[in-house]
Amino acid sequence: MIHATLHQLKVFETTARLDSFTKAAEELNITQPTVSSQIKQLTKAIGLPLFEQIGKTLYLTDAGKALLVTCQDIFEKLDNFEMKVADLKGAKEGKLRLSAISTTKYFLPRILGLFCQKYPDIDVSLEIINHEKVINRMLDNEDDLYILSQLPDNIDLHSQAFLDNPLVVVAKADHPLAGQKNIPISKLNNEPFIMRESGSGTRQAVETLLLENQVKVRVRLELGSNEAIKEAIAGGLGMSVLSRHTLQGDLSNSELTILDVQHFPIERHWYVATLNGKELSVIAQTFLYFLIEKSALFTNVNGKRPHAIY
Ligand code: PGA
Repeated sequence: MIHATLHQLKVFETTARLDSFTKAAEELNITQPTVSSQIKQLTKAIGLPLFEQIGKTLYLTDAGKALLVTCQDIFEKLDNFEMKVADLKGAKEGKLRLSAISTTKYFLPRILGLFCQKYPDIDVSLEIINHEKVINRMLDNEDDLYILSQLPDNIDLHSQAFLDNPLVVVAKADHPLAGQKNIPISKLNNEPFIMRESGSGTRQAVETLLLENQVKVRVRLELGSNEAIKEAIAGGLGMSVLSRHTLQGDLSNSELTILDVQHFPIERHWYVATLNGKELSVIAQTFLYFLIEKSALFTNVNGKRPHAIY
């Protein structure tokens, strides 16, 4: 019988998942020496090394790989047990894990705020990241719910569309094409352009449309943040394609404008998705209904900022 504590297994699982002692310490809110000593004690209890450090990279040994699978199984079972206890208590308390693509930051925190007011005993963890990172979290079964604009073909999901997410061409307000109607997409040829980072769903959608129309923009800069892109457009570095939700309110007094380019907006929707077969906690189900109900209070954006949700 191996004498390992649950805490040691949690420390091991986090380190193995993040490939790093430092990141594990951060996630678990403990010091890096504590991570090392917990792993050392666990290694001693098991009697085989769990990690190999080659240069700066941490690798799992065969024993480490087998232990990781076991830990994931144990923690999933414990989560399910916690969920059942919460269900039995009928209590709305516990943890809600969400990950969502970058553009949701313009409305999701507000909906979460309302949710947390209503259920103050629920702990929420929200990751706002790009499309690729959301998909990676899905593959690792890290969250209860995922919010994204493009559903992957290779993952078995339940999903529901709940709000429009049109992508529009954004330029500086004094751009020569500003105010023109029905601009042919070919006019974007050679335009200085600011592109989202690779792995971004927005970028994927833009690249596909430009390729289909044989348009080549001149990418001057790649940025991983919609806010930074807006600043770069205002600073005269070029135009970009962004979700309409990233633009605050009425644009009449803004440094930015939306260009009326053919084939735009690229019509997309936000979906809330769960892994098929995953047992949703009462909390996750409650949030799912709450999200759908509250987001219905946003108008569809078609050229307009959604109204407040209150
Ligand atoms: P992104 O997500 O942050 O990955 O660009 C937006 C989207 O997929 O619509």
